[in-house]
Amino acid sequence: MTVPNVVMLSPGFPLEMAYFTRALAEVGATVIGVGDQPVGVLPPEARAALAHYEHVSLADEDAVIAALRGLSRHARIDQVECLWEPYMVLAARIREELGLPGMTVAQTWPFRDKELMKQVLDAAGIRTPRHASTGTNAGIYAAAEQIGYPLIIKPIAGAGSADTYRVDSLAELETVLPMIGHVETVSVEEFIEAEEFTYDTICGAGDILYDNVSWYRPRPLQARSHEWISPQTVALRDLDRAELVAGIEMGHQVITALGFTAGFTHMEWYRKADGEVVFGEIGARPPGARTVDVMNYACDADLFRTWAAAVLTGRAEPVARPYNAASIFKRARGSGHIDRVEGLDRLLAEHGDSVCVLDLLPVGAHRRDWRATLISDGMIILRDPDLDRLVTIADRFGSELQLYAR
Ligand SMILES: Nc1ncnc2c1ncn2[C@@H]1O[C@H](COP(=O)(O)OP(=O)(O)OP(=O)(O)O)[C@@H](O)[C@H]1O
Ligand SMILES: [Mg+2]
Repeated sequence: MTVPNVVMLSPGFPLEMAYFTRALAEVGATVIGVGDQPVGVLPPEARAALAHYEHVSLADEDAVIAALRGLSRHARIDQVECLWEPYMVLAARIREELGLPGMTVAQTWPFRDKELMKQVLDAAGIRTPRHASTGTNAGIYAAAEQIGYPLIIKPIAGAGSADTYRVDSLAELETVLPMIGHVETVSVEEFIEAEEFTYDTICGAGDILYDNVSWYRPRPLQARSHEWISPQTVALRDLDRAELVAGIEMGHQVITALGFTAGFTHMEWYRKADGEVVFGEIGARPPGARTVDVMNYACDADLFRTWAAAVLTGRAEPVARPYNAASIFKRARGSGHIDRVEGLDRLLAEHGDSVCVLDLLPVGAHRRDWRATLISDGMIILRDPDLDRLVTIADRFGSELQLYAR
């Protein structure tokens, strides 16, 4: 087999991209990086894996395409990969310009535009929240009237629950409108009162080669609204659990409806108290906030490599899942610099065996902005074969471990 030459967009940012880049090289590709970062600040894993790097602004699509056209006169380009949301459409455009296989621009947009996404899925008979999209206040009032309360307003291409509001009444709508005035196009949706899960996959050659369900504790919107909460993402060991069956089935239907065949997907779905499952959103990328690490600890696997094998060869080694694994994100109390940590010694003495990662800001460091980054002031990854035990331990790290800042 000839060695494929693969272009990786943004090979070193966000940080986990470096591990995907390294995996492409490990599995046997010659990797050409294209990114905003000066070569000197690329993470070492990425730099060591790259045969060539083009430093060009990814926001300047024409410049990226010109650079790759120039390169393609000297070297064959076989494939373009991108796992970072803002540049998925650019990756598709490059494929079209260079006549390469993989997702087209038209296939990519439904993963970026939440309204288009739901239209495609509605047509496939998938249960989405009642929805409308609009760019005007009049449009929002009309959508609210038609959809009813409670509802949710969010940006059409949002991330990290930014500018996302639950609205319970017309009076509340009036207070929310000024807060979203800067958002060009919003999605207005029926509010789904439910537990929230993910369905994540690695696909190759049209098959789901690996899948994962994570359980958000609590729902992301609540976690984003209250600073005192230590949000958790729990990658579940046993996907046969009765409460997951319908969501996983929906996940399969969504992937088929969107025509996705190779790469990572990250879908969110809701499970109502009556058992009904409702689609949330999907990205053609891995989950963020170090969740790939959480999944790796659940599986004792290297899913960066599983992904690389899937996109390069269409196949991957099967992955076992001996554990449940959870990430817990900590937010310090107070503002300024971290000045003490309480509860850690006791928790490590009792549950140190369950701890895979302990990555807290050191004393003296300035607090991070908890609204801007889910990682906040630090994170812990735990694992345990038993879900009840894992959740009990995770909740103790949530409540008994406290960072204080001043
Ligand atoms: N229709 C809805 N009903 C109930 N809750 C919703 C609805 N839409 C969004 N939410 C809440 O808001 C959160 C953020 O919404 P969504 O996932 O669509 O946007 P996002 O900003 O891309 O999210 P993230 O990047 O955090 O995954 C959801 O995880 C959920 O908690
Ligand atoms: Mg989301």
